[in-house]
Amino acid sequence: MESIIKTDKIRKYFHNRKRGHVIKACDDISLDLQQGKTLGLVGESGCGKTTVGRIIIRLLYPDSGTVLFKGINLTELSWKRIRPLRKNFQMIFQDSSAAFNPRMRVYDTLKEAIRLYGSFKAGEIREEIHNLTFRVNLHRGLLNHFVGNLSGGELKRLDIARVLSIHPEFIIADEPLSLLDMSIQSQIVNLLLSVQQEENTTILFISHDLKMVRMLSHTVAVMYGGRIVEYALKSSITENPLHPYTTYLWNPKSSDLFIRFFESGCVYKNSCRLFHKKGFPLICSEKQPKLLEYEKGHYAACHFAGMSKARHVLAGYGGYNGKPG
Ligand SMILES: Nc1ncnc2c1ncn2[C@@H]1O[C@H](COP(=O)(O)OP(=O)(O)O)[C@@H](O)[C@H]1O
Ligand code: SF4
Ligand SMILES: [Mg+2]
Repeated sequence: MESIIKTDKIRKYFHNRKRGHVIKACDDISLDLQQGKTLGLVGESGCGKTTVGRIIIRLLYPDSGTVLFKGINLTELSWKRIRPLRKNFQMIFQDSSAAFNPRMRVYDTLKEAIRLYGSFKAGEIREEIHNLTFRVNLHRGLLNHFVGNLSGGELKRLDIARVLSIHPEFIIADEPLSLLDMSIQSQIVNLLLSVQQEENTTILFISHDLKMVRMLSHTVAVMYGGRIVEYALKSSITENPLHPYTTYLWNPKSSDLFIRFFESGCVYKNSCRLFHKKGFPLICSEKQPKLLEYEKGHYAACHFAGMSKARHVLAGYGGYNGKPG
């Protein structure tokens, strides 16, 4: 299967000069997005998900690392050479209102999007707009309304219609469900699934909710503190999570711990139940674990991810005598 997007060790640090510290928003992130598939990128707010998305479509430049789009190195291209490629990758924003002018009418907004990359005659534009509103289930009566008067769900549909009008090969959906009611959320999930089926679109689906990610994704990357801590097929992450943070994400109601503050070592240590249960092993507080393959195609970054009873130990059922991975 063809790789549409491949990132290799992308890194982005933000320097907060006032406070004198560095935010490692994205640290050595390597991802592979296959044509027609969805990669779910999941993690708590502030862990770096949006930064990864913005770097992939060159809204942000990485400190190091590369992003390949169908083998073309986007990080090497000038703005001028990126522009014609932009048609191929589009982003659905968390806050769709930020993507539009609230004082423009819905019809004109879609017309502008269609004209940006396509050449249509006047009659064809009208037909295309009607097709789009039908596809995203946006009531035609809204075409004359101002964008600023749309509800959250309508705005999200408009954003998806805008993206669809461009027929991109790759879509980043950044927390597209977070501001919507439950009933609208499932409609949007179904809409994304049908778009993927019809156009063989590749999707990077970003969310803080692992259960939501599971509905859409073929592969899942779990992020914490700017790093990928687990990366596997959805079935493996569901049936056999290897990293303590992934286990926590499956059941976030069990309140996470705040242990004590260690500066170096594993990014997850200050919240890690396993670190606590094992009596604060030095290896965790001194060394960042590498992302290693524990089962075929199933990667985790935890010194103890390889232990067979990891989940039971986390739940407090048993002890562990194995060696660190
Ligand atoms: N332009 C920026 N300048 C400084 N810090 C930033 C900037 N963008 C993001 N950050 C910081 O980087 C971290 C990751 O942010 P972000 O990628 O938005 O996370 P997420 O999407 O997972 O919530 C956060 O601590 C955020 O405050
Ligand atoms: S390496 Fe240690 S601190 Fe990090 S996730 Fe694994 S057990 Fe927890
Ligand atoms: Mg974000």
